[in-house]
Amino acid sequence: MALHRTLANHGSQQHMRQLSRFFLRYLSGDSIRDGFVGMVGRTPLLKLNKLSEATGCTIAVKAEFANGGGSVKDRAALFLIKDAIEKGQLKPGGTVVEGTAGNTGIGLAHICNAMGFKCVIYMPDTQSKEKIDLLRSLGADVRPVPAVAFTDPNNYNHQAMRFADSIDNAVWTNQFDNTANKRAHIETTGPEIWQQTDGKVDAVVFGTGTGGTLAGVATYLKEKNNKIQAYLADPQGSVLYNYIKHGKLERSEGSSITEGIGQGRITENLKGAPIDDAFLVTDKEAVEWTFRLLHEEGFFVGASSGLNVAGAIQAARLMGPGHTIVTCLCDTGQRYYAKLFSRKVLQGKGVLDAVPEAYRAALND
Ligand SMILES: Cc1ncc(COP(=O)(O)O)c(C=O)c1O
Repeated sequence: MALHRTLANHGSQQHMRQLSRFFLRYLSGDSIRDGFVGMVGRTPLLKLNKLSEATGCTIAVKAEFANGGGSVKDRAALFLIKDAIEKGQLKPGGTVVEGTAGNTGIGLAHICNAMGFKCVIYMPDTQSKEKIDLLRSLGADVRPVPAVAFTDPNNYNHQAMRFADSIDNAVWTNQFDNTANKRAHIETTGPEIWQQTDGKVDAVVFGTGTGGTLAGVATYLKEKNNKIQAYLADPQGSVLYNYIKHGKLERSEGSSITEGIGQGRITENLKGAPIDDAFLVTDKEAVEWTFRLLHEEGFFVGASSGLNVAGAIQAARLMGPGHTIVTCLCDTGQRYYAKLFSRKVLQGKGVLDAVPEAYRAALND
């Protein structure tokens, strides 16, 4: 009543309508967003109920598959394009060129369509067919190339850089070493986690590919409260676990069924990141949690999400009950349907027995 009286005294009915619309939007936490770009970020933070009960911690996940392009990498894609425009490297009608395991490319392709840019994607030919097909459907010029080490001049990133150099008005967005990627998480993911937990977050855990998510979120949250722990969850076959634990760039044993995570070097995005500790997550654990997330919590996600949740469990064990631990569900299981949900493929990779027996009937052949 008091508010209405004040408004009646000071403004027109139109002003009152504007204000009540503002309050409605404020209360619902939303408003009309700016096209596709408006679907990047501001993802829900969701408690994993069964897992929280089992660990005595609040295990919460950012639902990153809810970004418009379907993955956490939409955030990096947006900031990489913004960075190129701000630096004058990309003018109207120009071409964005990137080397990507797929998800950054999918984000870039959506944003290029929305902003009128062309998109050329170099990716290792080991990545899932679903991601390649999707990129083509989005209108990207997709160039799968043999998967070779970063030190090889034919590595997909070097090919992307050379191609961008060879044409006019084109930029190689360079997600691994362009720190606009990390900035996306300093400016969006980190603040979202802080606000959504009312600052009551004790730890974050992420697997890393470029390192943008972990480094950006850790940097932001530690500035807010230096006691918040930042943990790396690393897949088998990556060097980062040994680097954080022992300061050595030595690969852990095996190679991983996960896509988009694991590293052979310290990227510019990861350099200097305030990481407290690291957990090694085997493919068996990542696969088990991918299936448990589906059948016990209801989330159909890819294996890097399973790995993140397995990492969160290790964090809960380390910290003990009563803590709030945040990670993310990076993308959807649909992106890996033919691989991760195939009995034959899982058997071939030696991880079929990681799928809890009760859930094996749901696999395809
Ligand atoms: C499925 C998936 N999960 C996690 C990540 C890791 O994110 P970041 O590159 O920020 O370390 C990626 C990166 O490509 C990814 O594709």
